[in-house]
Amino acid sequence: AIKEVASRRVWDSRGNPTVEVDVHLESGAMGRSIAPAGASRGAREAFDLRDGGDFLAGKNVSRAVENVIKRIAPAIIGMDCDDLAMIDRTMIDLDGSQFKSSLGGNAMVATSLACLHASAANAGVPLWAWISKAYDRKPAIPLPEIQIFGGGAHAAQRVDIQDFMIMVPGAESFDEVMEITSNVYFAAGRLMSEKVGSGGLGVADEGGWWPVFNSNEEALETLVRAIEAAGEVPGERVLISLDVAASEFGKKGRYRLALDDRDMDSDGFNELLGRWMEDYPIVSIEDPLGEDDKMGMIAFTKAYGHKVQIIGDDYLVTNADLVREAVSEGACNAVLVKLNQAGTVSETIETVVAAEGAGYRPVISARSGETEDTTISHLSVGLNCKQLKVGSFTRSERMAKWNECLRIECDLGAGSFVGGNPLADTWWG
Ligand code: PGA
Ligand code: ZN
Repeated sequence: AIKEVASRRVWDSRGNPTVEVDVHLESGAMGRSIAPAGASRGAREAFDLRDGGDFLAGKNVSRAVENVIKRIAPAIIGMDCDDLAMIDRTMIDLDGSQFKSSLGGNAMVATSLACLHASAANAGVPLWAWISKAYDRKPAIPLPEIQIFGGGAHAAQRVDIQDFMIMVPGAESFDEVMEITSNVYFAAGRLMSEKVGSGGLGVADEGGWWPVFNSNEEALETLVRAIEAAGEVPGERVLISLDVAASEFGKKGRYRLALDDRDMDSDGFNELLGRWMEDYPIVSIEDPLGEDDKMGMIAFTKAYGHKVQIIGDDYLVTNADLVREAVSEGACNAVLVKLNQAGTVSETIETVVAAEGAGYRPVISARSGETEDTTISHLSVGLNCKQLKVGSFTRSERMAKWNECLRIECDLGAGSFVGGNPLADTWWG
């Protein structure tokens, strides 16, 4: 049973305050987790409770921390930590609001995850093994999506598209994915250094190279050249994945690409993305249309859903009801899964189950504001979610997650990496 719940303010990868929770059990076992934070947030995701005002630019989390200590702790102390559904339900009822604005999604997700960790610690098994057993799934090492160039809200909108990523389904192991990614990342860095000259090259929020481009196409072109410079044939072992994060520049069916100085309607933007998919080896595309553009998303899925993975992030906000709605309408064919969008582990898993039941692929994802917390690596392996997106190939809040997958791959042994063509039935089935 839960004996004590502690919470404190810690700091994330952007230097912003965030919530950490420790859950102590009667047995002496302890679990700890930290809430991440997004920058390009969906309108319908769980509320990230901040103090507001001038202090720490309004981003302090003293209210969320206090909610854990004064409201959540008394409600869950004494409960069986292994009954996470019950704990999450208790918090949801206690919060009582539509978007978790009373307790704070950040307070709730850190508590829910800390309980999950405490259960694994109590059982004396790694977290991935606990999750695999608790949810009755065969563990598997996921295929990562790794950012090479940052953009959008993570790079002062210097390029409209938010993430230019690679996927390496042709690798034999997760270890080999890392090796190939390292080659592509540094090849991209050399190409970018030539562009910026002595001005120096920086990185965006998630550690991908800072986007110094004159058009979105130039970024795609450079990524293709980086893959080639790394000794790979684009479209073979290495493929391109984009997070358009269209809600950032597309409102009410109008899409304004600031970099290209182009303004178009939903159909026009659909066509532009279609051309990109002809011209570049794109295998996956996230939030191609805005969160408010249902007709656009349905049209896009109808036109391209047979050949690319279409992931809903802001569009679905890890919400099982929204996933079911999208399924019935024919929007997207994959779901980005962010624990703090849902607010609890149970709701996150409900979303995963809803997605899988409809043949939609779940992609476990980090946020742009992250920490040393590696829970999502374990969740992705233990739930057999097959894909993981945590940002780039530098900075320890990202590398901690990749490195954790490498350790788990050692434990699980050869053959535990999903690999293969991400769109083939065999890979998915
Ligand atoms: P965010 O970005 O964490 O800033 O929302 C990640 C994403 O859009 O996938
Ligand atoms: Zn996204």
